Amino acid sequence: MIRIALTKGRIEQKAIELLKKAGYDCSELEEKGRKLVFKLGADDIEVVLAKAADVITYIEHGVCDVGIVGEDTIMEHGKWFHEILDLNFGKCKFALAGIKGKDFYQGYTHKIIASKYPNVTKKYFNNKGIDVEIVKIEGSVELAPILQLSDAIVDIVETGSTLRENGLEVYEDVAYVSTRLIVNTASIKLKKSEIDDFVKRISAQIEK
Ligand code: PRP
Repeated sequence: MIRIALTKGRIEQKAIELLKKAGYDCSELEEKGRKLVFKLGADDIEVVLAKAADVITYIEHGVCDVGIVGEDTIMEHGKWFHEILDLNFGKCKFALAGIKGKDFYQGYTHKIIASKYPNVTKKYFNNKGIDVEIVKIEGSVELAPILQLSDAIVDIVETGSTLRENGLEVYEDVAYVSTRLIVNTASIKLKKSEIDDFVKRISAQIEK
């Protein structure tokens, strides 16, 4: 048996479409209600739905074998697993953004950056040799510059509408990200044939 941890929310539907195209029966998953654990038809595969950061935790602890998760969360939290495939959906970017028309680098003042991704933010500014103060925000980070808590944010931009509708703009692109397939380091050896078969079936259906 292999157990897959699938990130619920934004990338869930696309991941289910990919599983279906690869020939897996996702009817239980599609009628999920409040359930969190599912069987993929007659295949000996179990799927659990979890928040992105928890997908990484389950893979790193070996309680799930395969994870489907955004590269943004991997960059922020991930360490100990194999990244096997770029699934080529859920494409978006990390950007430095703030109030429209403002020059972020103007003046020599100490900058405050709000983000759900403090590690990504820290690395980005470290590489630039700029010392910033980072404030961790849990959601709707766009509020931070509006409320003047921060000079800018580092956040995910997909369509750009959240920024636009709140009078903000991208100052700089930080990194492009997409959805990835990750595998626990022990499972890759212990369940080699099952995982190879799964990866082969999925990779044949990835849209280019
Ligand atoms: C993400 C991100 C932005 C928004 C960007 O938030 O943090 O707020 O999506 O998408 P857009 O460019 O298409 O507008 P999400 O809705 O995932 O969650 P949050 O509000 O809890 O941060």
